[in-house]
This record gives sequence, structure tokens and C-alpha cells, in this order.
Amino acid sequence: MLDKMKPWKNTKNSSVLRDKIEVIKEQSIPAHVAIIMDGNGRWAKKRALPRIAGHHEGMKVVRKITKLANQLGIKRLTLYAFSTENWKRPKTEVDYLMKLPEEFLGTFLPELVEENVRVEMMGYKESLPSHTLKAIERAMNATKENNGLVLNFALNYGSRAEIVDGVKRVLDDYKRGIISEEMLNEDSFSTYLMTKNTPDPDLLIRTSGEIRLSNFMLWQLAYTEFWFTDVLWPDFNENHLLEAIEVYQNRQRRFGGV
Ligand code: FPP
Repeated sequence: MLDKMKPWKNTKNSSVLRDKIEVIKEQSIPAHVAIIMDGNGRWAKKRALPRIAGHHEGMKVVRKITKLANQLGIKRLTLYAFSTENWKRPKTEVDYLMKLPEEFLGTFLPELVEENVRVEMMGYKESLPSHTLKAIERAMNATKENNGLVLNFALNYGSRAEIVDGVKRVLDDYKRGIISEEMLNEDSFSTYLMTKNTPDPDLLIRTSGEIRLSNFMLWQLAYTEFWFTDVLWPDFNENHLLEAIEVYQNRQRRFGGV
């Protein structure tokens, strides 16, 4: 259980990890890191445990990675916690996933507040159970003045639906004379998405060996660097994040130029 874990500020990094962090911090740190946290079910299956045990373990990794992201000076960490397609899973699993924000934030919120982390959420709020939404909104409210890392949960999020809804809102504004055809461009369209006024991810990480986007931030990932690993999310640790960033630092980003 999370509440048996040491408070965040008392968890010390090993000296090897500290040294690695210092080296990584000498070069550019991606401002926005997005993660598709995959492989919880397989992690559990390998141990003959129910799938929800994998999700529970995955939640602990969220804590660890949030802490490191904050230490590194990453500005925004977007985590794909539940997609609009995940409702197709067995009810017991969906119910469990919907309880995770409460469990996580119930324990972790004071640390997030103290460590200057701001909690945000993107996704279709209206179809979330009220207990899930309440936990998230409480955390958003409690951390709204914080200006350190933004921990952005993608919860009941789906990129195609987001884009179609964006188009519908553009049409609506067009009809009301708020936007003209000339005014519509990539920048103005971006403001109709759930990520409005936030920079696109610089680095996308997907765990568990699957090489696909699964309806995640399709518009926003146009120029993002991708890093895939076979590691299952519950096994993902600080060294893996540092490795991903190191690879990122050695990539040349050209954004379509030369
Ligand atoms: C995909 O693995 C993972 C999910 C659908 C859920 C991810 C959620 C967490 C890691 C916990 C989130 C924590 C908070 C605080 C909200 P999978 O189940 O598809 O794994 P599999 O592909 O091996 O079956």
C-alpha cells in the first residue's frame, strides 16, 4: 500500500542516481514528457496475479517518476492513465482503475502540494464517476497555486474525439462570427484542443514493447521524439527515465527543417 511508503522528501536517491541526474541536467531537459504507461496487465500475469495488481504497482511508479521529473526540472508530465477505449475492459478492472486517482491522491496529495507540483487533468470529465472526478478536482484545487512540475493525468482521454470536438467548436465559433476562415490555422486550431495554451510534448515514452500511439495526442505529437522500451510499466524506474532523456538529448530535432 502507498501509505506504508516513506514520505517523498525522506526518500533519498542513491549516490549513483544523483550523479546521473547531475550529468543529465547539464544538457537540455525536455520541457514536456508524455508517457503511455503500458504493460500493467502483463506484469501481473507473469506473477500469476490479477490484472489490478499490475495497475496498483503501476500507480507506485507514477509517484517515483513524478518525483524525478520534478527534480529534473521537467515542466509538464502527461500520463495516459485511462483512454476513451478503456471502458471496454471488464467492469471490475474499470472500477479499480477509477479508484486509483483517489487512492493515489489520498496519500500523495500533501507531498505534491509541498513539492510545488500542480495537478491537472485532460479528458472527458462528464463520464467519469463522481468519486474519481472529485479526487482529481480536489487535487487540482489544492495545487492550483503551485508553479513547479505540472502532473497532467490523461483520464478518459481520446485524441480522435478531441480533434472532432475541436472541429465542432470551430464550426460553432464560425457560425457565431468569432472565427473566420482566414483566422483558422494550426496555432488557432490548437486552442480548440484539450491541450490549449500548453506546449506539445518534446518526448513521448511508451513502455511494454508496443510500438503504437493508441489514440494518444495525435495532433500534439507531430514533432515529438519517441522512445519505446520493452520494460513493463510497473518495472519502469528512474534509470529508465534518465536513459530516455539521454537518448532525447542526443537526437537532432529539425521540426521539418534541415
Ligand atoms: C495499460 O496497461 C495501463 C492502463 C490502462 C492503466 C494505467 C494506469 C496506471 C499505471 C496507474 C495510474 C495511476 C493513477 C494515479 C491514475 P495494460 O493494462 O493495458 O497492460 P497490458 O497491455 O499488459 O494488458
